[in-house]
Amino acid sequence: MSLSAAFLDELRARTLLSALIGRTVKLQRAGREFRACCPFHNEKTPSFYVNDEKGFYHCFGCSAHGDAIRWMTDQRGLPFIDAVKELAAAAGMEVPAPDPRAAEKAERADTLHGVMTEAQRWFTEQLGGIAGAGARAYLDRRGVSEATCRTFGLGFAPDSRGKLRAALATAGDPLLIEGGLLIAVEDKEPYDRFRDRLMIPIRDQRGRVIAFGGRIIGQGEPKYLNSPDTPLFDKGRTLYNLDKAGAAARKAGRIVVVEGYMDVIALAQAGFGEAVAPLGTALTEAQLERLWRMSEVPILCFDGDSAGQKAAIRAAQRALPLLAPGRSLAFLTLPAGQDPDDLIRAGGAAAFEALLARPEALVDRLWRHALEDGELATPEQRAGLRRRLADMAAAIGDTDVRQQYQAEFRERFEARFLTRRRDAGPRGAPNGPGNPARPFARGFTRPASTAARGIGATGIDRVLAKSVAAGLLRFPTEITRHMEALAGLEFHDPAIARLMAALVEVAITDQTLDNGRLSTILATSEYNDVAHELLRADSLPFSFTRKDAEPEKARVDLDEAIQVMVSRPEVDAALHAATGRLQARFDDETFAEQQRLLGLRGDVERRLANLMQGGEDGREFEGE
Ligand code: UTP
Ligand code: MN
Repeated sequence: MSLSAAFLDELRARTLLSALIGRTVKLQRAGREFRACCPFHNEKTPSFYVNDEKGFYHCFGCSAHGDAIRWMTDQRGLPFIDAVKELAAAAGMEVPAPDPRAAEKAERADTLHGVMTEAQRWFTEQLGGIAGAGARAYLDRRGVSEATCRTFGLGFAPDSRGKLRAALATAGDPLLIEGGLLIAVEDKEPYDRFRDRLMIPIRDQRGRVIAFGGRIIGQGEPKYLNSPDTPLFDKGRTLYNLDKAGAAARKAGRIVVVEGYMDVIALAQAGFGEAVAPLGTALTEAQLERLWRMSEVPILCFDGDSAGQKAAIRAAQRALPLLAPGRSLAFLTLPAGQDPDDLIRAGGAAAFEALLARPEALVDRLWRHALEDGELATPEQRAGLRRRLADMAAAIGDTDVRQQYQAEFRERFEARFLTRRRDAGPRGAPNGPGNPARPFARGFTRPASTAARGIGATGIDRVLAKSVAAGLLRFPTEITRHMEALAGLEFHDPAIARLMAALVEVAITDQTLDNGRLSTILATSEYNDVAHELLRADSLPFSFTRKDAEPEKARVDLDEAIQVMVSRPEVDAALHAATGRLQARFDDETFAEQQRLLGLRGDVERRLANLMQGGEDGREFEGE
């Protein structure tokens, strides 16, 4: 097709799907989506949803699913090109003129696919024949079963310069050369590229053979000979076993990236169908993107030797600019000099399962790399570490994720090197070398992964956090009741965070805390100013922040406000995660989860709105 992927993406982005579908189907708003009785099947209660944000529709009744273009082809019955034209017209976009060369290329690709399929069939035949005896014995020695050979379509290229050429003569030399099956040099006769090799077909995502990897039988160089890049095969965009691993990854809830073909094959035979491999090169951005479409956190499995670990770091660094909420990597480090194939042959599936049980998160891998990258004995060396951490975090493209990494690296660095200097009292226990046991056990912070962005990161949350603090200052007897909830929170504003920590601390040691006692204690503390400012701030919009608060109502409202404050970030984080998963790959279960969370979020918003009406009428509260 002559239309580029970029053009089609732009077309989808510019089309408001609900407006398009709404022309022929009556849509009802349902949260952020629209709902209707499904136009693809007969039904009385609506189970057809349209999501503008993601640009797709989905029916839970009949599984009809698609984007704007699919809607035009499937519902309106238009040919693809007419669908594109009509949408482009509506969006005011120019359709690129059909390119005759591109059309020809598409034609040829079709034919090339046929040739590759033919070649694969022939290689398989050879493996089963007399000439394949050595290759069969080799596979047997490696413990590759016959069933596995069939599953992966393994074959054998005999030791001959012309047998494949002869067998596929009807295709003609030019196609065989273009497919990378023959080598043509100058004016010599074209000859078979793969000779005396075990043939491993490489398939695209749709399962069509697009290239081959040929392994030498036994020892020799090069160990693997791969197809050159062809119109069908772009090494840097393909992963071996992508087609089969997709379904297995969905089932297993993970995707594993290993280094070699034979690792993928051995893993599949041991029951791990969710493995893919790059084709003899470092992971490219295109490959990472593919992986993220299958799983939020692809697990990269590398040899523990120094080459393998360098590769791991290279992959991590390449991923940094592409990270986003719900898009990370995890790492498995194999014993040095062992690949997954070796590991499984030595220890069975259990050995690999045990490794899989504890993957190392990207943040941990980077932290470890930065630590191992130099001595840390002198201030200069420690500053060097800080620089390395900062550089890595700075490479992250997504602002939210970058800030999370910066904060987390800072926390880890401080927990490890600054605790003694800070001497922060009972909580500032210094951590020994190695992984600090409690890197976050300071104040009210906890690992950033659990909370979305911290309480009070956005306008209204900030007002809520301040108000709750003010409310607790006014009603200190309430603190003990909410201690547990408060202690679990991570406040965005450091002043509020410290004040909250101090309040809980005071309440723990003084069970009879009342206003008088609290103000005496505060008066001599560093929190006096913050506290006074909060108590003065009568623009805060809640009943419990007012000087003339009616105590009964204020207590009930304060209770409710704390609950809202606790649940908002939790719901948001879960919603964010679910939405990220849906963007990566749609599935009904996550969709239902997302819908439930949207409902919950609505409830929380309503509760908050009610509380604020209970405060000063019509006051500005977003205003700072
Ligand atoms: P390895 O050398 O680790 O091979 O290369 P392996 O997968 O363990 O192979 P076996 O177990 O000895 O059969 C890892 C990957 O690097 C690429 C291949 O994709 C291979 O699977 N490679 C390796 C090449 O492309 N050419 C080579 O000469 C060697
Ligand atoms: Mn190997």
